[in-house]
Amino acid sequence: MVGIGLLGLGTVGTGVVEILEKRQKEIYKLTGQEIKIKRILVKDKDKDREIELDKNLITTDFKEIIDDKDIDIIVEVTGDLESSYYYIKEALNNNKHVVTANKAVVSKYFETISSMAEEKNLAFLYEASVGGGIPVLKPLKEQLDLNSITEVQGILNGTCNYILTRMFNEGLDYDEVLKIAQDLGYAEADPFADVEGHDTLRKLRILGTLSLQGKIEEEDILREGIERITSFDIRQIKMMNSTVKLLGEVKELEDGYTALVQPTIVNTNSYFANVNYAFNSIAFKGNNVGELKFYGSGAGKLPTANAVLSDILDIVQNSYRKGNPLGERDLVNLNEELNGEYYLRISLSNEKIYNAVFDISKKVLTTKDNIAVVTNKVKLIDLYEQLSKLNLDKEDYFIARILD
Ligand code: NAP
Ligand code: HSE
Repeated sequence: MVGIGLLGLGTVGTGVVEILEKRQKEIYKLTGQEIKIKRILVKDKDKDREIELDKNLITTDFKEIIDDKDIDIIVEVTGDLESSYYYIKEALNNNKHVVTANKAVVSKYFETISSMAEEKNLAFLYEASVGGGIPVLKPLKEQLDLNSITEVQGILNGTCNYILTRMFNEGLDYDEVLKIAQDLGYAEADPFADVEGHDTLRKLRILGTLSLQGKIEEEDILREGIERITSFDIRQIKMMNSTVKLLGEVKELEDGYTALVQPTIVNTNSYFANVNYAFNSIAFKGNNVGELKFYGSGAGKLPTANAVLSDILDIVQNSYRKGNPLGERDLVNLNEELNGEYYLRISLSNEKIYNAVFDISKKVLTTKDNIAVVTNKVKLIDLYEQLSKLNLDKEDYFIARILD
């Protein structure tokens, strides 16, 4: 018997319980072992749960879990940052393997936890932390043995992609769709983490650090979210035969790398334009394998729980990759070199703003209601500088890069 200590019984935790129960026979056939949830940690013991389970399994005392010698694997799906870091460290210190879906904790403590797990000869697996149900980290780690990965690009947040898709396809308002995404269980407990791009940034930090085999920290990634996009912007972007996606991208250049999370305008016929709703997709470029693309459900109860279960099965079968997957390359950040053509919308207008904006633009889309332009090819830092000279608040404008 393999004992599981489940930390969290929300969207993902409930999915883990459900799949384990439904697939018991198949799992036993595969592993020759019964995988059993021994204890479940929650915040509120008295909360009504949407699944039927033995109430005695539920506890609010982590000590009962960590001290239980029959628990072999800690599955952390709480979402809380600092307490989950504590739980994970305690798990490893008590010789328990760790599986988590929590990208916030992986992103913030990636190097520390990975080293701890290696020293202790234990598994630290986090497939569900990136791309929800998409098996992407395991194949990426496999490719790292044979390839130098030079680029990773992806739609990494189900909530944002769901919002943008429904705004674009159905003309729904931002706030209305955000509420639906929350009700569907896609959004983080604090949905600002999704819409302001923090969640995408954390996933990109994980993907980028693995891909380039050097530390790319959260602070090294330029971040813009979708929280200021309006139906007006969507109409302008539609008229460009394009759509808009929140893309994360890490690119290796000759002398360093760039890393960004930014609303990105893509032609309606392009690959990423057709990744819709809560689906995610991640594309890599490797020097030998060429281009690799992964696609699937980026959020939601069962897809995410499925990824958690895949990690658990790898541990039970002892088929997980041993050792620390992180590399030690020293990387130089070249984000100040980021440049391109950008869609720029400004909600205020006066002579000074008109002149400054027209000066850097190759095409004026409209001056009715708002100013919307396509800029010349400019450096992003120069564009930000221009906007700061105009004393604009962040709420007054929206920028999206235009992908060639
Ligand atoms: P959720 O629905 O908010 O559930 C969180 C669960 O953790 C709840 O059962 C809560 O207890 C418990 N909890 C929270 N803080 C705790 C603490 N400090 N100590 C003990 N228990 C605590 O969250 P979720 O959507 O399942 O997400 C869980 C994790 O998976 C997050 O890191 C999230 O980013 C990640 N993830 C989620 C998805 C998704 O689609 N939802 C996809 C991929 C990854 P109570 O029930 O008592 O409140
Ligand atoms: N809130 C996240 C999203 C959950 O919407 O993508 C999956 O990581």
